[in-house]
Amino acid sequence: MSCAVLRNALVALLLAVLSKGLGVRAAEFGHLPDNITVSEGESVILRCKIDDEVTHKAWLNRSNILFTGTDKWSLDPRVSLVNSNDSDFSIQIERVAVADEGPYTCSFQARNQPRTAHVYLIVQVPARIVNISSDVTVNEGSNVNLFCLAVGRPEPTVTWRGFKFDLQSEGEFLDITEIKRHQAEEFECVTNNGVAPSDTHRVRVTVNYPPTITDVKNMPAQLGKSAVLRCEAMAVPTASFEWYRDDRRRVESDSTLQIKNERTRSLLLFNNVTDKHFGNYTCLASNSLGTSNASMLLFRPGAVYSRGVDAAMSASLGVWLCLLLSLLMKI
Ligand SMILES: *[C@@H]1O[C@H](CO)[C@@H](O)[C@H](O)[C@H]1NC(C)=O
Ligand SMILES: *[C@@H]1O[C@H](CO)[C@@H](O)[C@H](O)[C@H]1NC(C)=O
Ligand SMILES: *[C@@H]1O[C@H](CO)[C@@H](O)[C@H](O)[C@H]1NC(C)=O
Ligand SMILES: *[C@@H]1O[C@H](CO)[C@@H](O)[C@H](O)[C@H]1NC(C)=O
Ligand SMILES: *[C@@H]1O[C@H](CO)[C@@H](O)[C@H](O)[C@H]1NC(C)=O
Ligand SMILES: *[C@@H]1O[C@H](CO)[C@@H](O)[C@H](O)[C@H]1NC(C)=O
Ligand SMILES: *[C@@H]1O[C@H](CO)[C@@H](O)[C@H](O)[C@H]1NC(C)=O
Repeated sequence: MSCAVLRNALVALLLAVLSKGLGVRAAEFGHLPDNITVSEGESVILRCKIDDEVTHKAWLNRSNILFTGTDKWSLDPRVSLVNSNDSDFSIQIERVAVADEGPYTCSFQARNQPRTAHVYLIVQVPARIVNISSDVTVNEGSNVNLFCLAVGRPEPTVTWRGFKFDLQSEGEFLDITEIKRHQAEEFECVTNNGVAPSDTHRVRVTVNYPPTITDVKNMPAQLGKSAVLRCEAMAVPTASFEWYRDDRRRVESDSTLQIKNERTRSLLLFNNVTDKHFGNYTCLASNSLGTSNASMLLFRPGAVYSRGVDAAMSASLGVWLCLLLSLLMKI
């Protein structure tokens, strides 16, 4: 290092000390420190206007010397001198990092007076979601706790949104107690700090519940014609269906009837109704959470059907008739 460099360095150090300790005497060039705002990763130029009377000049980052005159002291390759002449002494920082945030000082000596110009570098970071709940599947009645962690400078806001009921909830956590089936949907986390467009991410909440059979109807049928019995069930996960005859005998597809299962319903298709088809059919819908059943009749129009207790009574009536008949026959 040459003598001149060392001398400049010493001056710079002196200026640094002066600018810290004797802030009042050291003329602030014009006004309060300017804030320079830059986004992380961008380049920034820190300008320092001087005049032709300047004899020594330096740039400091806090109390570290970056440049004294045109001599670079900083080892950081991102820092460079963009201009140095009698009226301008400016440096550039490339790929600005959060650690670069802070006060920078241009110190110089003119007419034997130390002077300083301060700038405060503010480094912004766009709001970004860094961790968020995965899609979840819960049983109806459970509590759901979603989180959405975001980072950014300045500190970003985090909001959860639901679309079905226009839900809006501030903060990183969304807690739903005893969730109901109709609350199942995609929730969206939005984070924003005004630096860049907001960052969003969605989380799907699936609510499982046991089947509920929603639609059953007794159906009339004509001999020799086709007929259909329907069983519709709401369930998550989707239900699987089975059919029973008189609540006991499992109904299987055969040449005369066919079971057609769809996502939310099951159809019992009779392609050629015969006498043996008339009767009471039970549809059983089941999923991992439970089962539900409902009964319906395939009936001959005009025929009178009795239900439950009545059926039992007519059965016993039949027994009495038989008894009576056999008694009469014996006589
Ligand atoms: C610089 O930013 C700080 C904090 O953000 C603020 O208090 C101050 O007023 C700003 N200074 C100028 C000159 O804008
Ligand atoms: C110093 O450099 C700046 C930028 O290149 C230029 O605008 C200005 O005229 C120069 N001043 C002198 C005195 O050379
Ligand atoms: C400024 O100083 C801080 C703290 O010493 C350091 O982390 C940062 O890298 C420096 N930035 C520049 C551009 O020199
Ligand atoms: C996200 O958060 C969860 C729960 O706090 C944690 O288990 C997981 O390790 C985090 N993932 C990352 C990438 O930080
Ligand atoms: C229905 O079945 C009856 C008796 O088995 C038969 O006579 C008739 O042709 C069938 N009708 C049709 C449309 O297949
Ligand atoms: C239908 O439900 C009733 C009442 O829960 C039950 O007693 C009956 O066994 C069920 N039928 C079938 C076929 O599962
Ligand atoms: C059909 O069977 C179910 C189950 O045994 C019973 O509850 C219902 O009353 C029966 N329907 C008729 C009309 O007999």
